[in-house]
Amino acid sequence: MERLRITGGERLQGTVAIAGAKNASLPIIAASLLSPETLTITNLPALTDVATMLDVIAEHGAHVDRNGPHQVAIDGGRVDHVEASYGAIRRMRATVLVLGPLVARFGKARVSLPGGCAIGTRPVDLHLKALQTLGTTVDTDGGTIVANAPNGLTGARIVLASPSVGATETAMMAATAAKGETEIINAAQEPEVVDLATCLVAMGAEIEGAGTHRILIRGETIWRTAKHAVIPDRVETGTYAVAAAITGGQLELAGARLEHLAAPEQVLESCGVAFWPSDRGLIVSAPDPLQAMDITTEPFPGFPTDLQAQFMALMSVAEGTSTIRETVFENRFMHVPELNRLGADIKLQGTVATVKGSRELKGAPVAATDLRASVSLVLAGLAATGETVIENIFHLDRGYEALDVKLTRCGARIERLSG
Ligand code: EPZ
Repeated sequence: MERLRITGGERLQGTVAIAGAKNASLPIIAASLLSPETLTITNLPALTDVATMLDVIAEHGAHVDRNGPHQVAIDGGRVDHVEASYGAIRRMRATVLVLGPLVARFGKARVSLPGGCAIGTRPVDLHLKALQTLGTTVDTDGGTIVANAPNGLTGARIVLASPSVGATETAMMAATAAKGETEIINAAQEPEVVDLATCLVAMGAEIEGAGTHRILIRGETIWRTAKHAVIPDRVETGTYAVAAAITGGQLELAGARLEHLAAPEQVLESCGVAFWPSDRGLIVSAPDPLQAMDITTEPFPGFPTDLQAQFMALMSVAEGTSTIRETVFENRFMHVPELNRLGADIKLQGTVATVKGSRELKGAPVAATDLRASVSLVLAGLAATGETVIENIFHLDRGYEALDVKLTRCGARIERLSG
């Protein structure tokens, strides 16, 4: 199993190219199943999760023509298979996003029920309720979702019990093929939902209000060939902003879009991190010791849960005590015991972590448990004195393109060990 060995203490300086957003790429690839025409996607990140999603749509019959690691042309014309195997779902729960497109286009689908993962049970009840509201009958047959809409879908008013990103995306994709108009109320407002809508409109759909809590979709789309460039990854951007801050360095984040990071930027500026625009994106600098700040994770535009673990690593070395409340997932503190092994002083009380800062972190062997937890260990390792070896780094490669290479180019002492 591959590991990362980090020798900490180097101030990072240099430029990092921000890749396309993983959490926009995955639903956009799933959306290609809706259309018999070709969808060309550019600025795709080279991630194992993206490779997994492309494998899954190919299993359904889509013709996937890769043009280098960051571009793909998907011909949905030959999609003919409406069953997604457990193997696919087991590899990545986001593959459940093929359910909406398959039911919308073929009137039926069998998709394995995704299990939970390290950060929570991750149910899909809101996805299924949205499809039922559009006229789908949904049964579960021993771990498989069996969805049927023999008369096609009919536009409706969908009220989401909570602003679920995935459920909003499932509802929006399915609604593009329904008869009549669909209104989604309490929709997720994440930039990745907006990017999916932008891509669907390029493909021929009529969608208004993406990015607000109310989205309107006109159905019976006439699909056309389209090309779409994925937005930059705001979680990767926030991660490298923390890397600059935790090492007291300065990084230019090329391609970053500050408007997707308003809440984290505001919090980091209150800690003493400086941000300013550059002609290639964003410069982040943290020359002086940082002050501790409290955060609560919330759906967009609040502080993103996907940056919670990274921020916790930073608060371990800031001056003062920070309170971090996780409200989106029920078990997203798997990084705490590992950060404490590196010398952090973090105590958990239910959904609240109390982080006593200004710690001298010391390198140690640690293990990654999930995608964002693993990168918080990398960040802590960059600040720690001595050597940190991180096990199970396949988690990292799911969501960060060439993280070790990008960090090395900015002065980090980090190497990938195999075996
Ligand atoms: C998306 O997951 C992201 N993944 C997650 O990123 C991100 O953390 C999350 O949104 C929140 O922003 C992708 O986009 C592929 P949700 P998703 O539905 O859609 C509950 C990463 O690290 N819920 O908004 O699964 C759910 O259990 C990943 O890149 C239901 O109860 O998130 C959670 O507590 C991790 N029923 C909350 O809602 C449902 O049917 C938010 O989930 C769906 C969700």
